[in-house]
Amino acid sequence: MRVPLLAGNWKMYKTVGEAVELVEALLAGLGTLSDREVLVCPPYTALDRIGALLSEKPIGLGAQDVFYEAEGAYTGAIAPQMLRDVGCTYAIVGHSERRQYFGDTDALVNRKLHAALANDLRPIMCVGESKPQRDSGQAESIVVAQVRAGLANVTVAQMQSVVIAYEPIWAIGTGDTATPDDAQAMHAAIRKTLTDLFGVETASSVRIQYGGSVKPDNVDELMSQPDIDGALVGGASLKADSFLRIVHFQ
Ligand code: PGA
Repeated sequence: MRVPLLAGNWKMYKTVGEAVELVEALLAGLGTLSDREVLVCPPYTALDRIGALLSEKPIGLGAQDVFYEAEGAYTGAIAPQMLRDVGCTYAIVGHSERRQYFGDTDALVNRKLHAALANDLRPIMCVGESKPQRDSGQAESIVVAQVRAGLANVTVAQMQSVVIAYEPIWAIGTGDTATPDDAQAMHAAIRKTLTDLFGVETASSVRIQYGGSVKPDNVDELMSQPDIDGALVGGASLKADSFLRIVHFQ
């Protein structure tokens, strides 16, 4: 019932020309997919061009972040309406790199999430623990707290548009993936939290992606877990052949 969402987070990679080349290769190799959803999140500078290329195409467009105000004197920030204007339907919020390098707190993530929802952008809210937190047995409590804080004041109706991405920080860009069992256990804990907050019906309809060194050779096993509903892919989404293999997981 949950349509798997395979999303490429391109981070700070690709000029506009390179982005166009990658998207053209993805469109050429995608084929017909009726049982899954595909999304790319290029850097801001490429969104307009890629948005035009993807109009009426089976790949969606997302932003890597969003600011919470509609307009104003916020140098360097991008408003949700601006993202809608270039064709985005999703926005990532709370990526661990935003939390680590740009100071995004749970409260800020919550504000961004509400701004996205208010403007018809579906938020992909990232959560995940660090290595020391996992090693000291705090992984689940940290992640559950991030989920609760990030989703503060979200209604059941709004929750239908939200995607959660569980991305253990120690697995991002390291080649070190969570085992499918560990990932499944955390996804189940997240879904239980969603059940506490929104009820079982809503919780069972929300997609929870896994992210952190998802690759062609581990995607099938990860996706076979009952509570893993997609992947948020960094490094392996930068090349058409590897992202296409991930999209075509079995
Ligand atoms: P990675 O990044 O696939 O390169 O580990 C995932 C992410 O940060 O979303």
